Amino acid sequence: MIAPRARAADRLLIISNRAPYSLRRRGHATELVRSIGGLSSTLDDALRKRGGVWLAWSGSVARARRGRRRPPPRSMPVRDGGYRLRLLTLNDEQVAGYYHGLSNRSLWPLCHYFPTRAEFDEREWKVYEAVNRLFAHAASKSVPARGITWVHDFHLALVPRMLRSLRPSARIAAFWHIPFPAPAVLRIFPWAREVVIGLLGSDLIGFHTGDDATHFMECARHLADADVAFGRGEVAYHGRVTRVSSFPLGVEAKEFDRIGSDPEVLDEVRRLRLSLRMERLILAVDRLDYTKGILQRLQAYERFLAARPEWHRRVCFVQIQVPSRESVPEYRSLREQIDRAVGRISGRFSTAEWTPVRYLCHGFGRRDLAVFYRAADVLLVTPLRDGMNLVAQEFVATRGDGDGVLVLSLFAGAAERLREALLVNPYDQSAMQRAIERALVLPTVERRAAMRTMRRRVMTEDVDWWLGWFLAAAAVETSPRRARRPRSRAARR
Ligand code: UDP
Ligand code: G6P
Repeated sequence: MIAPRARAADRLLIISNRAPYSLRRRGHATELVRSIGGLSSTLDDALRKRGGVWLAWSGSVARARRGRRRPPPRSMPVRDGGYRLRLLTLNDEQVAGYYHGLSNRSLWPLCHYFPTRAEFDEREWKVYEAVNRLFAHAASKSVPARGITWVHDFHLALVPRMLRSLRPSARIAAFWHIPFPAPAVLRIFPWAREVVIGLLGSDLIGFHTGDDATHFMECARHLADADVAFGRGEVAYHGRVTRVSSFPLGVEAKEFDRIGSDPEVLDEVRRLRLSLRMERLILAVDRLDYTKGILQRLQAYERFLAARPEWHRRVCFVQIQVPSRESVPEYRSLREQIDRAVGRISGRFSTAEWTPVRYLCHGFGRRDLAVFYRAADVLLVTPLRDGMNLVAQEFVATRGDGDGVLVLSLFAGAAERLREALLVNPYDQSAMQRAIERALVLPTVERRAAMRTMRRRVMTEDVDWWLGWFLAAAAVETSPRRARRPRSRAARR
């Protein structure tokens, strides 16, 4: 890890696929609707404080028409936000190939260690390249003269290198928000080398965990034949040096803490608990995604109910599930499987007075989420793999009462920060069942001690801390190091 430094550059250009807001038409008016997902909610908060420009896909899809000129990005201020949004419109072919295809059907499953779910299509790769080039060209017009251009996530892996060739002296940083796999896995991706050298156009690349940063450096060495100094976190490639480090992301902790102790929110918490009439409330909050382990969690809860009838009529599991990527067939079929599992559990265990599982399939605003976080006795965050997971940290930040039990997957990046949680392997059904049982009976002293330690960390290492740290590191000049001459392609094979 690079240690936090004092001042950060004040001018910022953020580039990501997902915008913090999407445009929705209401009659004749257009309104901005907040996007759901870790990346957009965090960076929106960050840019509101710092100001700058955010370039992203508008989220809408135009019909592809040959010979038609692309409309320029729409530029608009974010109300009360203090920054400008520049939104790129993509056409249906681009969205299908670049977003649904290469990003969500190839890179997403592979990076989350699901190689058998990944599909690779050369045409989609070409579209991915073309859309990355489009972003790089649009970005080159807004690169701040002295500030930082910050590229986010796996949708735009080629942008740093493309932008570097357009604006050689720009200060470019990248952040990879999802896991970065070891070379043995990444090399399955037919264009793995292009992804690695695309990112190496940056001066600094950030990851959530030390493992991800190490995997990237290993890939740089093995797939791009770069000269890597692991100890210093430096990768030299074609005469340039890129620094690589982990910067575990934090949340808007003070804001969640404040909402969590607001008297009106606490009234709603009481009303929610009364309406559920349960001794214990178990909660889970996820985007609908196979990486989140929702199905495995429901199966473990079903096992728990079958094995522990003494908990019947005393416990309710609320699963909040936000629809996501619905055009990808895998996500649609997962939704059907989850619907069936919820139906099976309800049918098997419900009584006239008791519903063991409540399933809420839509997104909530921050305040409503805080009501659930504060009302829960137990939060289950059990992804099969997750870059970081902000929900776990938001739960801790909301618990100003010092209570609540967090059951956390060993395979979430957040497990490095929240070590006092009940850590569990989500693939191990009996371990999951045991974790649920343990969470429900954990003695008060143990619950509070764990929550106190986790809160100390989450409240200190919050999103402002993270942002200051990353931007200060990005502002540091990298000392040029002579790169080793790359071996020829033939020698590499
Ligand atoms: N979220 C939300 N409303 C919801 C569910 C989730 O605003 O109903 C937010 C949540 O507060 C968190 C983000 O979505 O900030 C999810 O981030 P996380 O890192 O947990 O998962 P991701 O969706 O990025 O994979
Ligand atoms: C993850 C990714 C983000 C993405 C979010 C929501 O957090 O790291 O880049 O924005 O999921 O997914 P979506 O496909 O809706 O943008």
